[in-house]
Amino acid sequence: MKVYITRKIQPKAIKFLREKGFTVSVYPKDKPIPRNVLLKNIKNIDALIPLLTDKIDKEVIDKMSKCKIIANYAVGYENIDIEYAKKKNIIVTNTPDVLTDSTADLAMTLTLACTRRLFESRKLIDDKKFKHWKPDLLLGYEIKNKIFGIVGAGRIGEAVAKRAYAFGTKIIYNSLFINKKIEKKFGAKKVSLNKLLKTSDFVSLHVPSNKGTYHLLNKKNLNLLKKSAVLVNTSRGSIIDEDALVNVLQKKKIFSTGLDVYEHEPKIHPGLLKLENVVLAPHIGSATVEARTSMAMLAAKNVASVLKGNKPITPVL
Ligand code: GLV
Ligand code: GLV
Repeated sequence: MKVYITRKIQPKAIKFLREKGFTVSVYPKDKPIPRNVLLKNIKNIDALIPLLTDKIDKEVIDKMSKCKIIANYAVGYENIDIEYAKKKNIIVTNTPDVLTDSTADLAMTLTLACTRRLFESRKLIDDKKFKHWKPDLLLGYEIKNKIFGIVGAGRIGEAVAKRAYAFGTKIIYNSLFINKKIEKKFGAKKVSLNKLLKTSDFVSLHVPSNKGTYHLLNKKNLNLLKKSAVLVNTSRGSIIDEDALVNVLQKKKIFSTGLDVYEHEPKIHPGLLKLENVVLAPHIGSATVEARTSMAMLAAKNVASVLKGNKPITPVL
């Protein structure tokens, strides 16, 4: 049986699939697979492992008449038309859990880098302006005793709550569901989104991308944030209206923002590039050796399980 992988993933996973007896083909170039190449290569495959940058829509799904499983190499799966896949009896899986800690670490990294002005610090050194220690050089804020707002209390939101709690913050959250665990363990309180934005010193976003979360933060509610607020996004760019965010940053209506994801990824809003009170990362939330190896293995194991006639390990529905 044939497995197609749209980009070189960790060799361990490819080896695993070959050892299971599958014929594995990998798009060999170091760039996202062009659509025409994808469409050409998937006709007779039994399983597809795509990246979050590959749009797996009706046209793609229709080309893969034998395909039994699409095993996304990501936890987010808004790149796949899951309703249509379901209609065609194709199982869709993602890679939850294995990237939770890496992503939560990055959310804290960005939070700290913003509050302690890490990139302005580096710039000052690069600009040869570090002349001597000084009482008011690059003052930031402490995290302890501040209010940490988490939007989306799923696995990653919960892992961020654990970290924020360890830093001594008070945690509030907004989520579709009550998360009893973070309420009990970390004293987190569920509040409305508006209340969260009005009262938090730090806001970290952990919701998936879907119709309901598109521009969840927008012109109207970004203005509710405190002047000292730090806003961090490691989920998906579509959650924030970037024009509106650039506007509040330019007017210094919030202290700083840390972004790992962008509305028009990989394009970065030109306004963001001109600001000094932003910390930008190129979608590296799950970019640790541990997470990426586990993501590749989980995708491969989902494929092997389904092609051997067993249940998927982490189906999305
Ligand atoms: C990364 O952004 C993922 O969804 O896995
Ligand atoms: C979202 O992907 C989560 O796991 O919280």
